[in-house]
Amino acid sequence: MDTLPLSKAFTLIEPGPVVLVTTHDGQRDNVMTITWTMALGFSASFAITTGPWNHSYAALQKTKECVIALPTVDMLDIAVGVGTCSGREVDKFEKFGLTHVQARHVRAPLIEQCLANIECQVTDIIEAHNIVVLQGVAVWFDSDRKEKRLLHAIGDGTFVADGRKFDRKKMMRSKLPNGL
Ligand SMILES: Cc1cc2nc3c(=O)[nH]c(=O)nc-3n(C[C@H](O)[C@H](O)[C@H](O)COP(=O)(O)O)c2cc1C
Repeated sequence: MDTLPLSKAFTLIEPGPVVLVTTHDGQRDNVMTITWTMALGFSASFAITTGPWNHSYAALQKTKECVIALPTVDMLDIAVGVGTCSGREVDKFEKFGLTHVQARHVRAPLIEQCLANIECQVTDIIEAHNIVVLQGVAVWFDSDRKEKRLLHAIGDGTFVADGRKFDRKKMMRSKLPNGL
């Protein structure tokens, strides 16, 4: 094996799907793209890495609410577009043709075009590491949607789509909660 620069280490384990995180700052809706995500166990708790460099961060801090929306592969250019401009300057819902849908528990909107939406409350902000901890309070899933493949960012501007699915449920039974 050869060595790789340490700065590329994260591209080897960049884990979760590309997500869109919506917020509402009291005046208007905004959305940003996040790929640094992590599930914190089986109880709908998540962490995202973000900070004050994003306009959305102030709304996360102030309202302690957001929605994690999951775009599918056909939405790649929307996800990249949303993540390369700021709600400070533009209305991203209008610019990218995204439809706001009223959530049940939070003011941040669901995105109609996405495969799934998770309403979340911010339970902790670990400033030293720019980690925002979220607790999911409701999940919406569009089962009618044909395209269900999610996107994964490598971190260097390239992306992969979900591929073949492997089933090891039986083998993992002892590690999975009942009913999963
Ligand atoms: C593919 C992609 C992934 C991104 N992932 C993250 C991330 O994990 N954390 C983060 O803070 N910003 C991330 N960004 C950058 C934000 O989405 C970007 O700064 C966005 O413009 C913030 O919008 P806002 O200023 O309206 O909040 C990503 C951008 C792209 C295009």
